[in-house]
Amino acid sequence: MTTTELGCPTTLKPDDNPGGALLESQSKFKTCKQIGFYRRQKLFQPDESPYFAQLNTLNIENGIVTLDLNHQETLVPLKLKIIAVEGNILRIKINEESSLKPRFEVPDVLVKEPTTQQFKVCNQETSCLVLEDPSSLCKIHVNAKPFSMLVTQNDNELISINSQGQLYFENAVFPSKESGLAETNPEKKAASSEELFGLWKETFEDYLDLKYPSSIGLDFTLHGFENMYGLPEHADTHQLQDTGEDEAYRLYNLDVFGYKIYDKMGIYGSVPLLLAHKPSHTCGIFWLNASETLVEIRSQAVLQPQMHLKSPDVKKQRAVPKTNVRWMSESGVVDVFLLMGPTPYDVFKQYAQLTGTQMFPPLFTLGYHQCRWNYEDEADVEAVDSGFDDHNIPYDVIWLDIEHTNGKRYFTWDQDKFSNPVKMQENLQEKKRKLVVISDPHIKVDPKYTLYSEAKEKGYFVKNISGQDFEGNCWPGVSSYLDFTNPDVREWYSSQFSFEKYKNSTNILFIWNDMNEPSVFGSCEGTMPKEAVHHQGWNHRDLHNLYGFYQQMSSSDGLIQRLGGKERPFVLTRSFFAGSQRYGAAWTGDNKAEWEYLKISVPMLLTLSVTGITFCGADVGGFVGDPDTELLVRWYQVGSFQPFFRGHAMQDTQRREPWLFGEDNTSIIRRAIKERYALLPFWYHLFYRAHIFAEPVMRPLWVEFPKYPETFGIDEQYMLGNALLVAPVLDSGVTSIDVLFPGLGERWYDFRNFSCVGDSHKQKVDVTIEEIPVYQRGGSIIPVYTTIGKSTGWMDNSPYELHIALDRKGTAVGEIYIDDGHSFQYLHERMFSYRRFTFKKNILCSSTADKMGCYPVKSTLENVYVMGLKNSPSEVIVHEAGEKKKKLAYTYNKDLCVLSLKNISLGVSLDWEIHIK
Ligand code: NOJ
Repeated sequence: MTTTELGCPTTLKPDDNPGGALLESQSKFKTCKQIGFYRRQKLFQPDESPYFAQLNTLNIENGIVTLDLNHQETLVPLKLKIIAVEGNILRIKINEESSLKPRFEVPDVLVKEPTTQQFKVCNQETSCLVLEDPSSLCKIHVNAKPFSMLVTQNDNELISINSQGQLYFENAVFPSKESGLAETNPEKKAASSEELFGLWKETFEDYLDLKYPSSIGLDFTLHGFENMYGLPEHADTHQLQDTGEDEAYRLYNLDVFGYKIYDKMGIYGSVPLLLAHKPSHTCGIFWLNASETLVEIRSQAVLQPQMHLKSPDVKKQRAVPKTNVRWMSESGVVDVFLLMGPTPYDVFKQYAQLTGTQMFPPLFTLGYHQCRWNYEDEADVEAVDSGFDDHNIPYDVIWLDIEHTNGKRYFTWDQDKFSNPVKMQENLQEKKRKLVVISDPHIKVDPKYTLYSEAKEKGYFVKNISGQDFEGNCWPGVSSYLDFTNPDVREWYSSQFSFEKYKNSTNILFIWNDMNEPSVFGSCEGTMPKEAVHHQGWNHRDLHNLYGFYQQMSSSDGLIQRLGGKERPFVLTRSFFAGSQRYGAAWTGDNKAEWEYLKISVPMLLTLSVTGITFCGADVGGFVGDPDTELLVRWYQVGSFQPFFRGHAMQDTQRREPWLFGEDNTSIIRRAIKERYALLPFWYHLFYRAHIFAEPVMRPLWVEFPKYPETFGIDEQYMLGNALLVAPVLDSGVTSIDVLFPGLGERWYDFRNFSCVGDSHKQKVDVTIEEIPVYQRGGSIIPVYTTIGKSTGWMDNSPYELHIALDRKGTAVGEIYIDDGHSFQYLHERMFSYRRFTFKKNILCSSTADKMGCYPVKSTLENVYVMGLKNSPSEVIVHEAGEKKKKLAYTYNKDLCVLSLKNISLGVSLDWEIHIK
């Protein structure tokens, strides 16, 4: 281990010249090797960590344990904080003891300062310290020299920290090796190696980035774990791959048009949350850092002796997996949360406790959205809107892209094409439909544009290094970028959504934030230069991945404020960070109209779903290019079973409204969309649970079947809630697909014809173009609408039916959640009805799931279908509170073992029982 002239603790050798990699790629986007801090960290390969913990500095105040960490050569002191957070979470923070250049600590992502638990110091020796969190049976063993930590739970090794010695902390001012004093003129020393290490300046293509060294890194070893998930956004498999030595998952929000698939490059959003799973445990690592971040994942099998079962004397070697995860960030501090699980749902809750749950969306947003770049003018909007009615296809929202504005000046209208936007909105409102318009973060430099001149005057734009407003190119030409990191800017931006300020907007208009990585045309990697300066002097480098998060936050607040806090907002964002779930939905950006992109949409959305961003979707049909008819039809079928369901297409593609491909295809698409609408009660209840209990709506199979390794790598099937298994058709021309019916002793039923497909197994299933296979899990009850209107607005009092799928024990349980579908009254005035249905011993029982709810539900329950009922009943009787017992008419299909009760007209929100004798 040596210290270079630069003072950077490393084993760098000039011959390694990683800078040579700069020549390798002409791509607009960097590979790992073209990233300075990655090169530096990768060349730092110590045999053991140069850091040691000074255990005699141990201090415990308000439950927070602090210790000094020293680098054995540079002697630059770091402060380590260890915090036990309520709910089985550990927080570890490492920062400089004192620094000349302050380091960015991510604000606003955590919903509150986490509640600290008291540690018990249970062992303190000179070389080791053991801390115990009594509430979780979790222990942290701090090893002094070299510094490392081991987290155990119930005395099982779970996570080691810095056991690979990769704790890395660059300092803006380097101490000289000899004196241990700060070197004040590092440039002098650095000059010759500058290009190599990129400490003070770095070039990519023709772009120069001037900075100071600030990179940080840390390694984690997950004992016994080999299945990793999370870290969106990448167009890659759901299960994370071993990255090898020279690659890493990149978290750096970028506008990547028609992104490459099965790739680890960063695209629009970042959530630095990694989940690790094995059959007996799930845990998570949440790395709270908003600068460019790279994550290397290396899996390993370690041979461990194991007692032979039959003869206890014989030791056998057993391969135990472990995974090393190395996090490297360009700046900021180490602030990491270990989410200790132990179940996947515990990890979701722990993460939500820190960053919040999914915003509860208005019901209409769960319907179908029709978008295109662009719906040209008011006549076009009207024609498309009527097209849906003419073809008897429900939809809820029509979208306007950038061309609806006056020269890409957001919050304005193109007066020729949209001369009467209020009338247009009134027409939509009459049809009980909504409008979403785009609002990007770049603001056209035009002194006559009020939004620009006002923001300019107030100093609300991001600055360049000379202190002038930063100007870059985007859709409107030369633009400045609102500095959403400034709370005053956010407040001002929110106020732009008031009806007074946003001329010709009405209460059916909602918002789409695009290009908010932010996208800057013709700039390094198409985004804002890292030296740009934000509120309080922070460089863009420090908070890049937060930019889109803040815009969506501010837009969402604006929509809430414009109606005095009464109505729920809807904002779609392209860029996101941890916590973005609190502000709306996200989509996967500019995918292509190709089968492979339909296929990759599934793992991409699964990864978003397990990292909190549950309201997510991909452009149906594919954004770039023209899908062939079969692909479009299949995409509708798959999209209708994904959380955010929007058809979208790029400028100059062929029109592709659902009725343009012949009546046969129209009717298949109609059926897919109608099926979505029929299932809205189920979707809405799943979103309520996502909002309240932090459960993802769209779930990978491993989450529902965590003990079954055959589910761990599945990208092509998923669950909706715990009840529906979706097996999408993702290839052209296929007549059958392989379906895994997961779990052990489960029972599965065809969602549409109620036939039982049997127990858990793998099966080849025939498919036609008419539909994709969907199965209901035995043990579940799904609420479904019996009638479908032109949009959700027409379905307010639609009657319901229950689809009851019995498990092997003849039981089932399900829920329904009902409120007005749009306001905050569910929250403030308890205007909701949350009901539970249970089926046991041949009795279907309706009871409350939350007795606080007081929403007067008008709709009735009309039909009940019980799948898997072995014998025909002799009679079916309903018991309603305060009513006489009544016999119900029924039919029983003995081939399918399905009991049907029709037109029973029971109050959905009332207590009753149906006895099947
Ligand atoms: C890029 C977005 O990803 C796309 O959906 C949109 O249509 C265009 N920008 C134009 O606004």
